[in-house]
Amino acid sequence: MGKKRVLSGIQTTGSLHLGNYLGAIRNWVEIQKEYDNFIFVADLHAITVPHEPKTLAANTRTIAALYLACGIDLEYATIFVQSHVSAHSELTWLFNCITPLNWLERMIQFKEKAVKQGENVSVGLLDYPVLMAADILLYEADLVPVGEDQKQHIELTRDIAIRINDRFGKKKEPVLKIPEPLIRKAGARVMSLADGTRKMSKSDPSEMSRIELLDAPEAIKKKIKRCKTDPVKGLSFDDPERPECNNLLNLYTILAGKTKEEVAAECQDMGWGQFKPLLTETTIAALEPIQSKYFELIEDRGYLDSVLKQGQEKAESVANRTLSRVKQALGYLPRF
Ligand code: TYM
Repeated sequence: MGKKRVLSGIQTTGSLHLGNYLGAIRNWVEIQKEYDNFIFVADLHAITVPHEPKTLAANTRTIAALYLACGIDLEYATIFVQSHVSAHSELTWLFNCITPLNWLERMIQFKEKAVKQGENVSVGLLDYPVLMAADILLYEADLVPVGEDQKQHIELTRDIAIRINDRFGKKKEPVLKIPEPLIRKAGARVMSLADGTRKMSKSDPSEMSRIELLDAPEAIKKKIKRCKTDPVKGLSFDDPERPECNNLLNLYTILAGKTKEEVAAECQDMGWGQFKPLLTETTIAALEPIQSKYFELIEDRGYLDSVLKQGQEKAESVANRTLSRVKQALGYLPRF
Protein backbone atom coordinates (compact mmCIF):
# COMPACT_ATOMS: atom_id res chain seq x y z
CA MET A 1 0.00 0.00 0.00
CA GLY A 2 1.19 3.52 -0.84
CA LYS A 3 1.36 6.38 1.60
CA LYS A 4 -1.83 8.14 2.66
CA ARG A 5 -2.39 11.51 1.11
CA VAL A 6 -2.38 14.92 2.77
CA LEU A 7 -3.72 18.07 1.13
CA SER A 8 -3.77 21.64 2.39
CA GLY A 9 -3.38 25.24 1.25
CA ILE A 10 -3.37 28.89 2.20
CA GLN A 11 -5.12 31.84 0.57
CA THR A 12 -3.13 34.55 -1.16
CA THR A 13 -4.96 37.31 0.69
CA GLY A 14 -2.44 39.33 2.72
CA SER A 15 0.80 38.25 4.38
CA LEU A 16 1.20 34.99 6.24
CA HIS A 17 1.30 35.30 10.01
CA LEU A 18 2.12 33.21 13.06
CA GLY A 19 -1.41 31.72 13.03
CA ASN A 20 -0.87 30.33 9.52
CA TYR A 21 2.54 29.01 10.51
CA LEU A 22 1.65 27.44 13.85
CA GLY A 23 -1.87 26.32 12.90
CA ALA A 24 -0.96 24.94 9.49
CA ILE A 25 2.49 24.98 7.81
CA ARG A 26 4.50 23.81 10.82
CA ASN A 27 2.23 20.79 11.13
CA TRP A 28 2.52 19.97 7.43
CA VAL A 29 6.29 20.00 7.78
CA GLU A 30 6.23 17.81 10.86
CA ILE A 31 4.21 15.02 9.28
CA GLN A 32 5.36 15.29 5.67
CA LYS A 33 7.66 12.26 5.62
CA GLU A 34 4.82 9.90 6.48
CA TYR A 35 2.49 11.08 3.69
CA ASP A 36 2.18 11.91 0.01
CA ASN A 37 1.57 15.67 0.34
CA PHE A 38 -0.20 18.09 -1.99
CA ILE A 39 0.30 21.67 -0.83
CA PHE A 40 -1.15 24.48 -2.88
CA VAL A 41 -1.50 28.24 -3.06
CA ALA A 42 -5.23 29.07 -2.93
CA ASP A 43 -5.34 31.96 -5.38
CA LEU A 44 -8.91 31.26 -6.57
CA HIS A 45 -10.08 31.66 -2.99
CA ALA A 46 -8.28 34.99 -2.80
CA ILE A 47 -10.70 36.76 -5.12
CA THR A 48 -13.78 35.91 -3.05
CA VAL A 49 -13.08 39.26 -1.37
CA PRO A 50 -12.07 42.39 -3.33
CA HIS A 51 -8.45 41.96 -4.45
CA GLU A 52 -5.62 43.89 -6.07
CA PRO A 53 -4.65 42.38 -9.50
CA LYS A 54 -1.23 44.06 -9.36
CA THR A 55 -0.12 42.02 -6.36
CA LEU A 56 -1.86 38.66 -6.92
CA ALA A 57 0.97 36.99 -8.89
CA ALA A 58 3.67 38.28 -6.53
CA ASN A 59 1.69 37.09 -3.48
CA THR A 60 1.34 33.68 -5.08
CA ARG A 61 5.11 33.35 -5.50
CA THR A 62 5.67 34.66 -1.97
CA ILE A 63 3.49 31.95 -0.44
CA ALA A 64 5.12 29.23 -2.52
CA ALA A 65 8.57 30.47 -1.43
CA LEU A 66 7.42 30.56 2.21
CA TYR A 67 6.24 26.95 1.98
CA LEU A 68 9.75 25.95 0.94
CA ALA A 69 11.41 28.29 3.44
CA CYS A 70 9.35 26.81 6.29
CA GLY A 71 10.61 23.35 5.37
CA ILE A 72 8.18 21.77 2.92
CA ASP A 73 10.40 19.26 1.16
CA LEU A 74 9.90 18.46 -2.53
CA GLU A 75 10.98 14.90 -1.88
CA TYR A 76 7.68 14.40 -0.07
CA ALA A 77 5.45 17.19 -1.36
CA THR A 78 3.98 18.60 -4.55
CA ILE A 79 3.59 22.39 -4.43
CA PHE A 80 1.25 23.98 -6.96
CA VAL A 81 -1.00 26.94 -7.70
CA GLN A 82 -4.76 26.34 -7.51
CA SER A 83 -5.64 28.39 -10.61
CA HIS A 84 -3.13 26.39 -12.70
CA VAL A 85 -5.29 23.29 -12.38
CA SER A 86 -8.61 24.10 -14.03
CA ALA A 87 -10.27 20.98 -12.58
CA HIS A 88 -10.75 22.95 -9.31
CA SER A 89 -13.13 25.37 -11.01
CA GLU A 90 -14.88 22.70 -13.03
CA LEU A 91 -15.53 20.37 -10.11
CA THR A 92 -16.81 23.35 -8.09
CA TRP A 93 -19.55 23.87 -10.68
CA LEU A 94 -20.59 20.23 -10.51
CA PHE A 95 -20.65 20.38 -6.70
CA ASN A 96 -22.59 23.68 -6.78
CA CYS A 97 -25.46 21.92 -8.42
CA ILE A 98 -25.80 19.29 -5.71
CA THR A 99 -25.04 21.45 -2.64
CA PRO A 100 -28.09 22.88 -0.86
CA LEU A 101 -27.91 26.64 -0.43
CA ASN A 102 -28.70 26.45 3.27
CA TRP A 103 -25.56 24.36 3.91
CA LEU A 104 -23.54 27.37 2.77
CA GLU A 105 -25.60 29.98 4.56
CA ARG A 106 -24.76 28.21 7.83
CA MET A 107 -20.99 28.64 7.44
CA ILE A 108 -19.59 30.72 10.31
CA GLN A 109 -16.76 32.22 8.26
CA PHE A 110 -19.20 33.35 5.57
CA LYS A 111 -21.42 35.01 8.14
CA GLU A 112 -18.46 36.80 9.76
CA LYS A 113 -16.94 37.97 6.47
CA ALA A 114 -20.32 38.94 4.99
CA VAL A 115 -21.04 41.20 7.96
CA LYS A 116 -17.69 42.96 7.43
CA GLN A 117 -18.38 43.55 3.73
CA GLY A 118 -21.91 44.88 3.89
CA GLU A 119 -23.56 45.00 0.49
CA ASN A 120 -20.51 44.00 -1.52
CA VAL A 121 -20.67 40.29 -0.71
CA SER A 122 -19.95 38.22 -3.83
CA VAL A 123 -21.53 34.91 -4.79
CA GLY A 124 -17.94 33.61 -4.62
CA LEU A 125 -17.72 34.31 -0.89
CA LEU A 126 -20.82 32.20 -0.28
CA ASP A 127 -19.53 29.50 -2.64
CA TYR A 128 -16.01 29.44 -1.18
CA PRO A 129 -16.51 26.23 0.89
CA VAL A 130 -17.67 24.38 -2.25
CA LEU A 131 -14.41 25.35 -3.98
CA MET A 132 -12.60 24.13 -0.89
CA ALA A 133 -14.45 20.81 -1.12
CA ALA A 134 -13.33 20.51 -4.75
CA ASP A 135 -9.71 21.27 -3.72
CA ILE A 136 -9.73 18.44 -1.21
CA LEU A 137 -11.78 15.80 -3.00
CA LEU A 138 -9.92 16.13 -6.33
CA TYR A 139 -6.77 14.74 -4.69
CA GLU A 140 -8.51 11.93 -2.78
CA ALA A 141 -6.97 13.35 0.37
CA ASP A 142 -7.06 11.19 3.49
CA LEU A 143 -6.10 14.02 5.83
CA VAL A 144 -6.47 17.79 5.73
CA PRO A 145 -4.23 19.50 8.32
CA VAL A 146 -5.66 22.95 9.15
CA GLY A 147 -6.27 25.34 12.03
CA GLU A 148 -9.47 25.19 14.05
CA ASP A 149 -11.27 27.83 11.94
CA GLN A 150 -11.41 25.53 8.89
CA LYS A 151 -13.06 22.59 10.66
CA GLN A 152 -16.59 23.47 9.57
CA HIS A 153 -15.47 23.70 5.93
CA ILE A 154 -14.02 20.20 6.10
CA GLU A 155 -17.23 18.88 7.61
CA LEU A 156 -19.07 20.41 4.65
CA THR A 157 -16.57 18.76 2.30
CA ARG A 158 -17.39 15.41 3.86
CA ASP A 159 -21.12 16.08 3.52
CA ILE A 160 -20.75 16.92 -0.18
CA ALA A 161 -18.70 13.77 -0.79
CA ILE A 162 -21.21 11.61 1.05
CA ARG A 163 -24.09 13.12 -0.95
CA ILE A 164 -22.32 12.45 -4.26
CA ASN A 165 -21.48 8.90 -3.23
CA ASP A 166 -25.05 8.23 -2.10
CA ARG A 167 -26.64 9.64 -5.22
CA PHE A 168 -24.20 8.66 -7.93
CA GLY A 169 -21.87 5.98 -6.56
CA LYS A 170 -22.18 2.22 -6.34
CA LYS A 171 -22.13 0.61 -2.92
CA LYS A 172 -18.69 -0.92 -3.28
CA GLU A 173 -17.37 1.81 -5.56
CA PRO A 174 -17.70 5.26 -4.00
CA VAL A 175 -17.04 8.15 -6.38
CA LEU A 176 -15.14 10.21 -3.80
CA LYS A 177 -12.91 9.49 -0.83
CA ILE A 178 -14.13 10.95 2.48
CA PRO A 179 -11.34 13.01 4.10
CA GLU A 180 -10.63 13.69 7.78
CA PRO A 181 -9.51 17.00 9.28
CA LEU A 182 -6.25 16.98 11.22
CA ILE A 183 -6.23 19.73 13.82
CA ARG A 184 -3.43 19.74 16.34
CA LYS A 185 -4.24 21.20 19.70
CA ALA A 186 -1.15 23.38 20.05
CA GLY A 187 -1.36 26.36 17.70
CA ALA A 188 -4.80 25.48 16.32
CA ARG A 189 -6.13 28.91 17.26
CA VAL A 190 -3.55 31.68 17.59
CA MET A 191 -5.23 34.83 18.86
CA SER A 192 -4.82 38.49 17.92
CA LEU A 193 -2.17 40.54 19.73
CA ALA A 194 -4.73 43.31 20.13
CA ASP A 195 -7.53 41.16 21.56
CA GLY A 196 -7.04 37.70 23.02
CA THR A 197 -10.62 36.72 22.27
CA ARG A 198 -10.31 37.19 18.48
CA LYS A 199 -8.25 35.01 16.17
CA MET A 200 -5.12 36.37 14.54
CA SER A 201 -6.16 37.13 10.98
CA LYS A 202 -4.78 38.38 7.66
CA SER A 203 -7.87 40.51 7.18
CA ASP A 204 -7.62 42.44 10.46
CA PRO A 205 -7.09 46.08 9.40
CA SER A 206 -4.47 46.57 12.14
CA GLU A 207 -1.02 45.15 11.40
CA MET A 208 -0.30 45.42 15.11
CA SER A 209 -2.72 42.54 15.70
CA ARG A 210 -0.46 39.97 14.05
CA ILE A 211 3.17 38.96 13.67
CA GLU A 212 3.89 38.27 10.03
CA LEU A 213 6.43 35.63 9.03
CA LEU A 214 8.43 38.25 7.13
CA ASP A 215 8.35 40.93 9.84
CA ALA A 216 11.79 42.44 10.53
CA PRO A 217 13.12 42.03 14.10
CA GLU A 218 12.36 45.70 14.85
CA ALA A 219 8.71 45.25 13.84
CA ILE A 220 8.38 42.11 15.97
CA LYS A 221 9.86 44.00 18.92
CA LYS A 222 7.43 46.88 18.48
CA LYS A 223 4.38 44.64 18.08
CA ILE A 224 5.12 42.57 21.18
CA LYS A 225 5.97 45.68 23.18
CA ARG A 226 2.59 47.22 22.34
CA CYS A 227 0.46 44.06 22.44
CA LYS A 228 -2.47 43.92 24.81
CA THR A 229 -1.79 42.50 28.29
CA ASP A 230 -3.32 42.88 31.75
CA PRO A 231 -2.22 44.41 35.05
CA VAL A 232 -1.84 41.08 36.89
CA LYS A 233 1.63 40.00 38.01
CA GLY A 234 2.55 36.35 37.55
CA LEU A 235 1.64 34.64 34.27
CA SER A 236 -0.56 31.57 33.94
CA PHE A 237 -2.28 29.48 31.27
CA ASP A 238 -6.01 28.85 30.84
CA ASP A 239 -7.41 31.67 32.99
CA PRO A 240 -10.65 32.69 31.21
CA GLU A 241 -10.21 36.21 32.61
CA ARG A 242 -6.79 36.47 30.94
CA PRO A 243 -7.13 35.48 27.24
CA GLU A 244 -4.12 37.57 26.18
CA CYS A 245 -1.92 35.98 28.82
CA ASN A 246 -2.93 32.49 27.71
CA ASN A 247 -2.29 33.33 24.05
CA LEU A 248 1.16 34.84 24.62
CA LEU A 249 2.23 31.95 26.85
CA ASN A 250 1.05 29.49 24.20
CA LEU A 251 3.04 31.31 21.53
CA TYR A 252 6.13 31.24 23.70
CA THR A 253 5.65 27.52 24.46
CA ILE A 254 5.46 26.51 20.81
CA LEU A 255 8.13 28.87 19.48
CA ALA A 256 10.59 27.97 22.24
CA GLY A 257 9.88 24.24 21.76
CA LYS A 258 9.11 23.85 25.47
CA THR A 259 6.32 22.00 27.27
CA LYS A 260 3.38 23.74 28.88
CA GLU A 261 4.56 22.59 32.32
CA GLU A 262 8.04 24.02 31.76
CA VAL A 263 6.63 27.39 30.69
CA ALA A 264 4.08 27.46 33.54
CA ALA A 265 6.92 27.01 36.04
CA GLU A 266 9.27 29.43 34.27
CA CYS A 267 6.71 32.27 34.01
CA GLN A 268 4.62 31.94 37.17
CA ASP A 269 6.40 34.79 38.95
CA MET A 270 7.19 36.92 35.91
CA GLY A 271 5.74 40.32 35.09
CA TRP A 272 5.14 41.51 31.54
CA GLY A 273 8.33 43.61 31.62
CA GLN A 274 10.32 40.41 31.93
CA PHE A 275 8.21 38.18 29.69
CA LYS A 276 7.83 40.44 26.65
CA PRO A 277 11.58 40.65 25.85
CA LEU A 278 11.77 36.86 26.25
CA LEU A 279 8.91 36.30 23.80
CA THR A 280 10.43 38.86 21.41
CA GLU A 281 13.81 37.15 21.40
CA THR A 282 12.24 33.71 20.96
CA THR A 283 10.03 34.85 18.08
CA ILE A 284 12.87 36.57 16.24
CA ALA A 285 15.07 33.48 16.64
CA ALA A 286 12.31 31.15 15.39
CA LEU A 287 11.59 33.26 12.30
CA GLU A 288 15.20 34.10 11.37
CA PRO A 289 16.01 30.84 9.51
CA ILE A 290 12.69 30.99 7.64
CA GLN A 291 13.30 34.58 6.58
CA SER A 292 16.85 34.04 5.36
CA LYS A 293 15.81 30.99 3.31
CA TYR A 294 12.83 32.94 1.95
CA PHE A 295 14.97 35.87 0.75
CA GLU A 296 17.27 33.45 -1.04
CA LEU A 297 14.37 31.67 -2.76
CA ILE A 298 12.41 34.72 -3.80
CA GLU A 299 15.45 36.03 -5.69
CA ASP A 300 15.58 32.83 -7.74
CA ARG A 301 12.42 33.16 -9.76
CA GLY A 302 13.53 30.57 -12.34
CA TYR A 303 13.82 27.90 -9.66
CA LEU A 304 10.55 28.84 -7.97
CA ASP A 305 8.64 28.79 -11.24
CA SER A 306 10.14 25.42 -12.17
CA VAL A 307 8.89 24.01 -8.84
CA LEU A 308 5.40 25.33 -9.55
CA LYS A 309 5.45 24.02 -13.12
CA GLN A 310 6.36 20.52 -11.96
CA GLY A 311 3.70 20.79 -9.27
CA GLN A 312 1.13 21.84 -11.83
CA GLU A 313 1.83 18.80 -14.00
CA LYS A 314 1.66 16.31 -11.15
CA ALA A 315 -1.43 17.93 -9.57
CA GLU A 316 -3.20 18.10 -12.91
CA SER A 317 -2.77 14.40 -13.63
CA VAL A 318 -4.27 13.42 -10.25
CA ALA A 319 -7.05 16.03 -10.36
CA ASN A 320 -8.15 15.27 -13.91
CA ARG A 321 -8.58 11.60 -13.09
CA THR A 322 -10.98 12.42 -10.25
CA LEU A 323 -12.83 14.98 -12.34
CA SER A 324 -13.39 12.40 -15.11
CA ARG A 325 -14.67 9.89 -12.58
CA VAL A 326 -17.17 12.38 -11.16
CA LYS A 327 -18.35 13.42 -14.63
CA GLN A 328 -18.80 9.81 -15.60
CA ALA A 329 -20.80 9.13 -12.42
CA LEU A 330 -23.01 12.13 -13.20
CA GLY A 331 -23.67 10.72 -16.67
CA TYR A 332 -21.75 13.11 -18.93
CA LEU A 333 -20.81 12.13 -22.48
CA PRO A 334 -17.04 11.45 -22.28
CA ARG A 335 -14.62 13.83 -24.04
CA PHE A 336 -13.53 12.79 -27.53
P1 TYM B 1 -6.37 30.63 5.39
O1 TYM B 1 -5.59 31.10 4.22
O2 TYM B 1 -7.28 31.59 6.08
O3 TYM B 1 -5.43 30.03 6.48
C1 TYM B 1 -4.46 29.04 6.14
C2 TYM B 1 -4.27 28.06 7.28
O4 TYM B 1 -3.91 28.77 8.47
C3 TYM B 1 -4.81 28.43 9.52
N1 TYM B 1 -5.01 29.62 10.37
C4 TYM B 1 -4.84 29.63 11.68
N2 TYM B 1 -4.45 28.67 12.53
C5 TYM B 1 -4.34 29.02 13.84
N3 TYM B 1 -4.60 30.28 14.32
C6 TYM B 1 -4.99 31.27 13.49
N4 TYM B 1 -5.21 32.48 13.96
C7 TYM B 1 -5.12 30.97 12.10
N5 TYM B 1 -5.46 31.69 11.01
C8 TYM B 1 -5.40 30.85 9.96
C9 TYM B 1 -6.10 28.02 8.82
O5 TYM B 1 -6.89 27.20 9.64
C10 TYM B 1 -5.57 27.30 7.60
O6 TYM B 1 -5.23 25.96 7.92
N6 TYM B 1 -9.96 28.13 3.07
C11 TYM B 1 -8.61 28.05 3.55
C12 TYM B 1 -7.62 27.73 2.45
C13 TYM B 1 -7.98 26.55 1.68
C14 TYM B 1 -7.82 25.18 2.08
C15 TYM B 1 -8.32 24.40 1.03
C16 TYM B 1 -7.26 24.59 3.23
C17 TYM B 1 -8.58 26.53 0.46
N7 TYM B 1 -8.78 25.25 0.07
C18 TYM B 1 -8.32 22.98 1.08
C19 TYM B 1 -7.26 23.17 3.27
C20 TYM B 1 -7.78 22.41 2.22
C21 TYM B 1 -8.22 29.37 4.16
O7 TYM B 1 -8.75 30.41 3.82
O8 TYM B 1 -7.19 29.34 5.01
